[in-house]
Amino acid sequence: MPRPEKHVFVCTQNRPQGHPRGSCASSGCAEIMNEFMNEIQARNLFETIALTNTGCMGPCNMGPTVLVYPEGVMYGSLKKEDVKTIIEQHLIGGEPVADLMMPAEVW
Ligand code: FES
Repeated sequence: MPRPEKHVFVCTQNRPQGHPRGSCASSGCAEIMNEFMNEIQARNLFETIALTNTGCMGPCNMGPTVLVYPEGVMYGSLKKEDVKTIIEQHLIGGEPVADLMMPAEVW
């Protein structure tokens, strides 16, 4: 298996309804994970982009959260349509999407 150029971690943490921290599951992470899978498959990017679902990464009230390495860029409050932008501009184009990044005081 070749080492991927980018590794995308999607928080898919779930918590019981009413939990004070909330969770990325309750803010729509499943749709974000599915969209990454679909886009990576449609563009045949399996050898350059790795995709992993993960547990809580901290800022639960700003989910769904996504972390991209090797840059260590964290995105938050993502919508389905943001996935295409991240793939095209950041994962392929090499330019992180400033408008979708977590605020500096968070990450
Ligand atoms: S539950 Fe996703 S960052 Fe905490």
